[in-house]
Amino acid sequence: MIIAIDGPAASGKGTIARRLAAHYGLPHLDTGLLYRATAATLIAEGRDLYDEESAVSAARGLGLTDFNETTLRSRQMAEAASVVAAMPGVRAALIEAQRAFAARPGGAVLDGRDIGTVICPNATVKIFVTASAAARAQRRVVELANRSEKADYNAILADILRRDARDSERAAAPLRPADDAVQVDTTHLGIESAVAEALRIVEAARIRA
Ligand code: CDP
Repeated sequence: MIIAIDGPAASGKGTIARRLAAHYGLPHLDTGLLYRATAATLIAEGRDLYDEESAVSAARGLGLTDFNETTLRSRQMAEAASVVAAMPGVRAALIEAQRAFAARPGGAVLDGRDIGTVICPNATVKIFVTASAAARAQRRVVELANRSEKADYNAILADILRRDARDSERAAAPLRPADDAVQVDTTHLGIESAVAEALRIVEAARIRA
């Protein structure tokens, strides 16, 4: 069973993906980490973030496991990730590893922006997780504060809106729900309710499959 979870920043897709993976005993890939790690490599090597050739070679050099999540989860890296993620060459360089992950025996859970549309168009189930920008900014403030990162609500909201626009308006694999995705709006849902809703959707898809 392949479970594809997409959605904008801080919509709750990562939490839902992790919980579904644990529930079904499936491996989980947070594909945002690939774009964050690509950007982090460029920054660490002092290279130009906007140079597609360097970004493609950074993406090609990535393994799927060697991520230092503490560095990668920062605000700066989220912003930088969305810059390299708009480059068609970077996306192309990362497709094969993501598809290989999805093709593991027994299946997998992947979350990102283009899992249902590009990476796994034949996924068993596709969920598109949304929430209002205000709710997402509030969640990110709490998340960053928990990691002792400075988090001003208005600055975070501006980050999220800028990233939403960049991710939705790019030509290469823009953020959008697949035609056959089921949408879950988590604006007024706590984690447990959102996970319960996602489980209902997966179970309904399993019966159909
Ligand atoms: O957790 P959050 O949603 O804030 O970020 P993320 O999922 O780690 O994604 C960071 C950035 O990577 C996004 O803003 C996208 O630009 C990019 N991304 C993408 O283009 N495609 C994916 N499948 C996953 C992430």
